[in-house]
Amino acid sequence: MPGAKITALACYVPPGVLTNEDLEKMVETNDQWIVERTGIRKRHIAAPEVATSDMAVEAARGVLTQRGIPATDLDAIIVCTVTPDMLFPSTACLVQDRLGARGAWGFDLVAACSGFVYGLTTAAHFVMAGTHRKVLVIGADTMSRVIDYTDRGTCILFGDGAGAMLIEPAAEGEGFIGFLNEVDGSGGDYLKMPAGGSRMPATAETVAQRLHYVKQDGQQVFKYAVRKTFEMCRDLLARHGLTAQDVKLLIPHQANRRIIMAAAERLGLRCDQVMINIERYGNTTAATIPLAARDAVEAGRLHKGDLVVFAAVGAGFTVGANLWRW
Ligand SMILES: CC(C)(COP(=O)(O)OP(=O)(O)OC[C@H]1O[C@@H](n2cnc3c(N)ncnc32)[C@H](O)[C@@H]1OP(=O)(O)O)[C@@H](O)C(=O)NCCC(=O)NCCS
Repeated sequence: MPGAKITALACYVPPGVLTNEDLEKMVETNDQWIVERTGIRKRHIAAPEVATSDMAVEAARGVLTQRGIPATDLDAIIVCTVTPDMLFPSTACLVQDRLGARGAWGFDLVAACSGFVYGLTTAAHFVMAGTHRKVLVIGADTMSRVIDYTDRGTCILFGDGAGAMLIEPAAEGEGFIGFLNEVDGSGGDYLKMPAGGSRMPATAETVAQRLHYVKQDGQQVFKYAVRKTFEMCRDLLARHGLTAQDVKLLIPHQANRRIIMAAAERLGLRCDQVMINIERYGNTTAATIPLAARDAVEAGRLHKGDLVVFAAVGAGFTVGANLWRW
């Protein structure tokens, strides 16, 4: 069976910035609380006319330029998002058209903060099956459109952004090693957007009740995220006969600095083995992992041949991790 590797990586964040000081003017909060409880200092926010597909296209173009290929070379486009431009057509269709990726097929993958990890696992298997040679995985979310900026428990956490990776065939010993994915739908009520679907279509009432915004039980999500990030990284490494000492870098979903540090500590990872950039972007949902990977590469913390783990826990609950030889 052929392998699969990541051959290009690019990201896009909108220029607008929302700082903790800005949030102090919007809700009862303060910079010290936000930094201590989450690690976040600022987030990027898209301008009103910018939607998820616009950011996705920017990240995708970055990947194509880096790899030096035309969009017509792409076999498939997977857009991981919970904030599509609209329910249908899918954002993947919008991106395919804007890129001019004739001949590619694609779809949206809805797994919230685990979206990008699921997208990577899916793309790697398409390539390893020998049926696809170039699969573009994009994580893009415009969280500012579904966040209630009167709710201090959620509005401090999220930001907007996009990131993309290209997955292509690899020689033996490079690229994708393995994965571990789970869903636990019993946790669905702890993090959700109640209205706007077939269960609760948009009405004047649902809008008045602010049901088209993210609702979260932060403490439940926090506890679950720490436990599952630890357990799945531990189990994935063990499955491949590896330990935390073998890992060059854990690139976790960036939801809360304390979640990441607690999980890393349980795994026995040193600080230099864990990538954190949440202070600059907040939680960009499906975009955090490519953004963190890009920053790790630019900071010289990830080199060819390094063992890297991507791991995420998200609404659903969704849980995913995968292991790569960079
Ligand atoms: C949301 C989160 C930061 C809250 O932090 P916490 O330490 O759990 O805080 P609590 O909810 O226990 O609240 C502690 C106090 O701070 C208050 N508080 C909550 N948000 C606040 C804010 N933005 N500013 C100031 N105070 C705040 C609470 O009202 C509470 O006050 P009280 O004790 O008087 O009732 C944290 O629970 C979290 O990060 N959860 C996971 C969220 C997540 O990762 N979601 C995405 C998953 S992909």
